[in-house]
Amino acid sequence: MSALLEVTDLRLQFGGVKAVDGLSFEVREGEILAVIGPNGAGKTSAFNCISGFYLPTSGSVVFRGMHIVREVPRIWHTLRLVQLLQRFGFYRVLPSRVTKWGMARTFQNLRLFRELSVLDNVKTAMHANLREGFWSTLLHTPGYRRAEAACAREAQGWLDFVGFEDDEELYVTQLPYGEQRRVEIARALATSPKLLLLDEPAAGLNFSEKQSLVRLIRKVRDLGVAVVLIEHDMGMVMELAERIVVLNYGKEIADGTPAEIKANPVVIEAYLGVDDDTEPIDDTRLRSAAVSAAAIAEALVDAGESSRGNGGDER
Ligand SMILES: Nc1ncnc2c1ncn2[C@@H]1O[C@H](COP(=O)(O)OP(=O)(O)O)[C@@H](O)[C@H]1O
Ligand SMILES: [Mg+2]
Repeated sequence: MSALLEVTDLRLQFGGVKAVDGLSFEVREGEILAVIGPNGAGKTSAFNCISGFYLPTSGSVVFRGMHIVREVPRIWHTLRLVQLLQRFGFYRVLPSRVTKWGMARTFQNLRLFRELSVLDNVKTAMHANLREGFWSTLLHTPGYRRAEAACAREAQGWLDFVGFEDDEELYVTQLPYGEQRRVEIARALATSPKLLLLDEPAAGLNFSEKQSLVRLIRKVRDLGVAVVLIEHDMGMVMELAERIVVLNYGKEIADGTPAEIKANPVVIEAYLGVDDDTEPIDDTRLRSAAVSAAAIAEALVDAGESSRGNGGDER
């Protein structure tokens, strides 16, 4: 299978913090890939670089054969002109263009238009692809009205697809959290992606909502859309992912099938090993990593036990 996305030696530094530290991996067409790692491992930062929201310090991101981020030649670094060139669109692609190329994403903290209805939230995502001209839009020509009606039908179609059952005329803020998450996924799908990046889509969901999210992600993949999923719920990861990339302190420490990852001593060490009393107490990053690492390690062990015990379909 050919690679849909190739990330090579990606690095992102915030002051002294190496959020992403030499990350390389690829996503193949139509696969479900999970990215796991303790809090602060650099998962969201990696997503932000891949989707054009952040400029990485170095490295390259190639999507469908096109460069989202290009390695900047050393001369521009020496002349200190990198930021200026990138601001004018050299060596990088802006998020709106990345969306047009077929990559969509959701955010760890939901990003929806609070002052718009559910349906309008999905329609605005499609407007990025609508090709109506300036005059027809201004004059509301029949052509424009037809395009609008088609747009509303398609948006409704995506809401049905994600299993949205509330009233689509409500403001998104009037919806329960789980439904808002569905709307965000509908918005992402409405851009007709080939690759969907989901940043902790199950956070804050209850058990049955998680179950229906698992079904939805499979349905998305069955459309031929590759899915990259950042997720802490190991049961979900083990159930869904065909491959798992494990990050720790910005570096990839493992890449393999769920079975390989569960048995990988480096992964177990990374998750269990961080919980160590010798760490400096004033380092909040280490402490939060340790707390979440312990929780994930527990889940990792649970997921292993339950899949040995009953085929892993209890969650
Ligand atoms: N905008 C930012 N400015 C400064 N530091 C950041 C920023 N975003 C993330 N970081 C830091 O980068 C590291 C990785 O964070 P993040 O990518 O959010 O991790 P994860 O998603 O794996 O929990 C953390 O140490 C975090 O504090
Ligand atoms: Mg994150």
